[in-house]
Amino acid sequence: ETVDWDPGQAAKGEYDHFMMKEINEQPTALAQALEGRIDPDSGRIALSDFEPGTFEDVESVQFVACGTSYHAALYGSLTLKQAGVQSAALLANEYSVSAPPIDENTLVIAVTQSGETADTLNALRHAADQGAMTVTVTNVVGSTAAREADEALFIRAGPEIGVAATKTFSSQAVMLSLLGQRIAADQFGEVPSDLDSLLPDLESMPESIESILETTSARSIAERYEGSQSYFFIGRGLGFPVALEGALKFKEITYEHAEGFASGELKHGPLALVTPDTPVFAVFTGEEDEKTLKNAEEAQTRGAPVVAICPDGHRAVDVADAHLEIPETDADLAGLLANVQLQLVSYYAADLLDRPIDKPRNLAKSVTVE
Ligand code: G6P
Repeated sequence: ETVDWDPGQAAKGEYDHFMMKEINEQPTALAQALEGRIDPDSGRIALSDFEPGTFEDVESVQFVACGTSYHAALYGSLTLKQAGVQSAALLANEYSVSAPPIDENTLVIAVTQSGETADTLNALRHAADQGAMTVTVTNVVGSTAAREADEALFIRAGPEIGVAATKTFSSQAVMLSLLGQRIAADQFGEVPSDLDSLLPDLESMPESIESILETTSARSIAERYEGSQSYFFIGRGLGFPVALEGALKFKEITYEHAEGFASGELKHGPLALVTPDTPVFAVFTGEEDEKTLKNAEEAQTRGAPVVAICPDGHRAVDVADAHLEIPETDADLAGLLANVQLQLVSYYAADLLDRPIDKPRNLAKSVTVE
């Protein structure tokens, strides 16, 4: 007697797709990532993955990455700048032609889920050749990036099967914000003071994500705006990489046109595309929200429905046509919660269109050619 057993289906458990399983694994993945990395006694970042003083000679940081990992790198670079460290996020595939000057006081951080992306490995090698210190932030122990970089920081997200990255993005971004604080602490000899408010919110991230996963508005919003001409995502500061990631996820799995913009850029061109047929998803992080709201209203005036991603009671809720709720949290983390809502919107939109969500056409999980 033979048993019909599909190992793929079995691994998916109760979920129809790996992507949905992996979206739901984010609380666990983040808890794993944080495990032991915050010292319970001092409430400080431990990151004993690195020797004390590892980053004391670092004068500037360059992040190199592709795709979703590049969005995490943008996020990390911005948190590092806010901590007072000179940093930039660069597309790894542009690095050979656009790398800023590098010396032995430059730290180059390759952000790569797989640790095998050819573009990112090339950038890493270029940086090492120029004498930079290198670190990779990766999910795969034993990957090429982990072997080649001077140091590796593992995000411990567990295997990600869906081509569209979800849990690895969240874990990368959180680990990069921890790493950024650690670099700043090594460099300045003290822990940045705003950390006190960040840590408790970091530790409650798994719980906050759980609460988002219980909401149902993402599905109804996907239904409500199905068949639109284009989908726009806007955000400012740490909301900007989230807008880019929201749009990338959406185009990857729905095959619909989607674009992410810095909120303030909307009026410098993209507004020409805005019609009642182009919903605008606006990410509010708590940082200059009034400006983002104004930018969203400029689109709304042209007829575009605005979907606000923000906590309940936020002023944007009254203005927007629809609301995706996130719990109140530190401005450093709000974007990552908004991202979970956007992952869900993309997922449901793709599911309505019956797309092969886990394996979008023309895309590969890991691209090992230049
Ligand atoms: C491919 C995947 C993307 C991913 C990118 C970078 O293009 O389809 O989802 O973000 O590679 O992958 P990495 O493994 O370097 O993070």
